[in-house]
Amino acid sequence: MRPSWSLILYALLVLLTAQGNNARKIISLGNGKDNNEDLIDLYQGNEHDHDHSTSSSHMHHMDTALNVFFTPKDLKLGKTMPIYFSKNDPSTSPRILPREEAASIPFSISKLPYLLEFFSFTQGSPQAKAIEYTLTQCELEPIKGEVKFCAASIESMLDLVGALFGSSTKFKVLTTSQLKNSTTLLQNYTVLEAPKEILAPKMIGCHTMPYPYAVFYCHSQESENRLYQVLLGGENGERVEAAAVCHFDTSQWDPSHAAFSVLDVQPGSSPVCHFFPADNLVWVPLPA
Ligand SMILES: *[C@@H]1O[C@H](CO)[C@@H](O)[C@H](O)[C@H]1NC(C)=O
Ligand SMILES: *[C@@H]1O[C@H](CO)[C@@H](O)[C@H](O)[C@H]1NC(C)=O
Repeated sequence: MRPSWSLILYALLVLLTAQGNNARKIISLGNGKDNNEDLIDLYQGNEHDHDHSTSSSHMHHMDTALNVFFTPKDLKLGKTMPIYFSKNDPSTSPRILPREEAASIPFSISKLPYLLEFFSFTQGSPQAKAIEYTLTQCELEPIKGEVKFCAASIESMLDLVGALFGSSTKFKVLTTSQLKNSTTLLQNYTVLEAPKEILAPKMIGCHTMPYPYAVFYCHSQESENRLYQVLLGGENGERVEAAAVCHFDTSQWDPSHAAFSVLDVQPGSSPVCHFFPADNLVWVPLPA
């Protein structure tokens, strides 16, 4: 089964955009300007999403995905807003490898030629670019106040999350789940219940990367964040139990971050909140 590269990259893109890290790169994806044109090819080479094969609809697609940002005042019962949720289709998700199998495959940009041969991808193909992109992202140094790691199996993700929280700490995961089969990517949703705040001193967000098997990119930032679980009802009757976060200190974010233009606010002047895509895992410690 071929993974849907563009869908994965797409969710990733929204998340990276949402996190402030790599903001400039992500914006440039939207503009199609500099060195990230390569990544745009990933979309255009995508076979699952014919509607978005032209560049203008591609741009539209990009803008659509930005419908994940909001401000804390939107988090109230009865509020209606357009939200984009990517579909989380298990049939196109990359395969999850057992730890031993993942550990037997090199995971380093220095092994790129070997990996392309190993997975039988030609150099310059969308898949090759995705692999290079993911390895590069995973090897980037964290930004100030950030902790990050990539995990190539569920087991190593759990180990690393546990190590970050402290070995005696129990933790749980929050996700966004579509309670009915989703048929729409973007639609108006209404907040159906008073949003529940999840009190957590720390959180680690993990998302899948475009790669031939499941690779989780996890990171955590030191600053005031608040997590919420929000029950949303779509215009089409769909229900989504969404995980959301509000970042209260955006002063260190790149001013070109998409959230600022979407919400029309300045860095540091307003909290920025976003919903998590369905393939994201948000780990929080349980109270002792
Ligand atoms: C969702 O769709 C899949 C495939 O179309 C189907 O097998 C499954 O039963 C559906 N689930 C629900 C809750 O409707
Ligand atoms: C959401 O509702 C508003 C107001 O009715 C409408 O203008 C807008 O087009 C709707 N958006 C979507 C994505 O359906």
